[in-house]
Amino acid sequence: MDSQGRIQLAVIGAGYWGPNLVRNFTACGSAVVTHLCDLDLSRAQKVAAPYPAIATTNNLEGVLASDIDAVAIATPVRTHFPLAKQALLAGKHVLVEKPLAWSVAEGQELVALAEAQGRVLMCDHTFCYTGAVRKMREVVQSGELGDVLYFDSVRVNLGLIQSDVNVLWDLAPHDLSILDYVLPADLRPVAVSAQGVDAVGTGYASVAYLTLHFGRPVIANVHANWLSPVKVRMTLVGGTKKMLVWDDNEPSEKVRIYDKGIEIGDQDPNRIRVSYRHGACFIPVLDSTEALARMAREFCSAITGGRAPETDGAAGLRVLKALEAANRSLQAGGVRVELA
Ligand SMILES: NC(=O)c1ccc[n+]([C@@H]2O[C@H](COP(=O)([O-])OP(=O)(O)OC[C@H]3O[C@@H](n4cnc5c(N)ncnc54)[C@H](O)[C@@H]3O)[C@@H](O)[C@H]2O)c1
Repeated sequence: MDSQGRIQLAVIGAGYWGPNLVRNFTACGSAVVTHLCDLDLSRAQKVAAPYPAIATTNNLEGVLASDIDAVAIATPVRTHFPLAKQALLAGKHVLVEKPLAWSVAEGQELVALAEAQGRVLMCDHTFCYTGAVRKMREVVQSGELGDVLYFDSVRVNLGLIQSDVNVLWDLAPHDLSILDYVLPADLRPVAVSAQGVDAVGTGYASVAYLTLHFGRPVIANVHANWLSPVKVRMTLVGGTKKMLVWDDNEPSEKVRIYDKGIEIGDQDPNRIRVSYRHGACFIPVLDSTEALARMAREFCSAITGGRAPETDGAAGLRVLKALEAANRSLQAGGVRVELA
């Protein structure tokens, strides 16, 4: 901590996402960004130019040897594990960008190491800090929708084709972390199945459908696609009482709660009697705080409070487990893969 009781933090990675972390940790009030570290020193210098108090470097060892309290890692996914491990071993609290690591084995090692070191390990599941997703969680967990029946998430656009991962590893961490955050802790997937196609010849699926099974009559689906002519960011949660729609493309009124449903009448062996309920639609007011600002505050608060953050290493690990199982299912033509 500095003399004003603020967490001293180094940001590692000054590419596309790192500058967002620098800006939000600088603004959050409970942290001070002391270093910006990137292998490409000129990038770090460019990003840090508006912040004269931030030291720029490409020497991570030097940063970790200093008296900083924490690091925030925004480097390519393959580097998350070695960098986070090094930082934890140096006694620092660690925030890692999503996904937590490149494999479940790496994620498990990080979670165990953070526990052994008594340090906070947090994964930046950014969407969990948006007003929309927090409202969804509140509505779902209050029971307003009744029992959850399904969770359906569509994340498609003409995307930046990645050369080293399939579309699920690129896009679905968002949906999986949202699902993990919104559904109650006793409603977790037990298995996945995934199908997809390598439509552009990179060797990885560019269009994919991931289904999550819950061991009871609940189902979730994530549709991820880099080849859609339009951008769709829509999630539906259906319950026995009400249904919720989150359309992230809407500039306002992103979340709508529909008092709609279907009731099955007395069973008749010859036909099913169905009645439809078309009730009101409620549009809740959403907190418009920037997600990364809230995320930064949560990391700092978990450190000072000595508690696990909302999207802790365990949450990052659950997302990784689903992604790794999805890879196995994709390779085996869509078979069901248990998440045990
Ligand atoms: N939370 C979100 O919504 C969100 C959005 C975009 C990216 N991300 C995540 O942020 C991370 C970075 O993505 P990006 O798009 O900024 O990548 P990027 O390629 O634009 O930037 C990565 C930077 O890390 C630097 N770097 C690489 N290895 C390093 C090392 N060992 N030490 C120090 N610096 C190193 C590179 O020089 C580069 O400047 C990824 O994990 C990505 O998944 C998260």
